[in-house]
Amino acid sequence: WDIIHAQYITSAVRADQYPTPPLIEAAFIGRSNVGKSSLINSLCRRNGLARVSSTPGKTQTINFYGLQAKRTTEGQEERADFYLVDLPGYGFAKTAKTNKDKWSGFISKYLSGSDNLGLVCQLIDIRHKPLDSDIESYHWLLDCGLQVQVILTKADKLSKNAAMAQKALFKRELGLDDSRIMTYSVTQNTMRSELIGRIMTALEG
Ligand code: GTP
Ligand code: MG
Repeated sequence: WDIIHAQYITSAVRADQYPTPPLIEAAFIGRSNVGKSSLINSLCRRNGLARVSSTPGKTQTINFYGLQAKRTTEGQEERADFYLVDLPGYGFAKTAKTNKDKWSGFISKYLSGSDNLGLVCQLIDIRHKPLDSDIESYHWLLDCGLQVQVILTKADKLSKNAAMAQKALFKRELGLDDSRIMTYSVTQNTMRSELIGRIMTALEG
């Protein structure tokens, strides 16, 4: 699969603002500043599609991006339309209270109530230890019956060996097999087509 088209659709804080037509969705969650918006830009190969900032708390609403993917198998061309969904981060100390309210409000409503959510990509900074907020979020998503792909971001910030060790640690901590966890770096982009493949597999299933 490759992404052949990507565009911003709309932003929402309530269910009646979710886009029409409804399409299958893959959402990106994780702590503030972990690289959710950057990852969406990397997948779409469009810097500036989702707004990125070095200051945590940049994304404040549920943002929907409309994507079209294409693949050709045995001369047959196939296209798929879906949404990527960028979410505000959790665990941002400076606005901890409002951040918490939001997460217990419209974000958890979206995650637990969406009929179209085929995959949640949970992003974790590869340099961090497993944190309670990440572990709790992961189990909460599973309890909602959602499929979760864990992505360890900013892999370029560690040596290859250190990155492998962190991946092994998170695999153990969360009880994941290799199909449910991967490393990613938006500066290196080496796992881009692998991640697109995993997203498409989850959305087709
Ligand atoms: P919020 O919207 O605030 O929740 O943050 P976010 O998770 O969307 O993070 P964002 O994409 O805005 O990125 C935060 C910072 O991390 C920016 O300065 C990015 O340039 C940087 N960043 C994101 N991904 C990577 C990566 O793979 N490698 C490196 N070195 N920096 C990254
Ligand atoms: Mg963001």
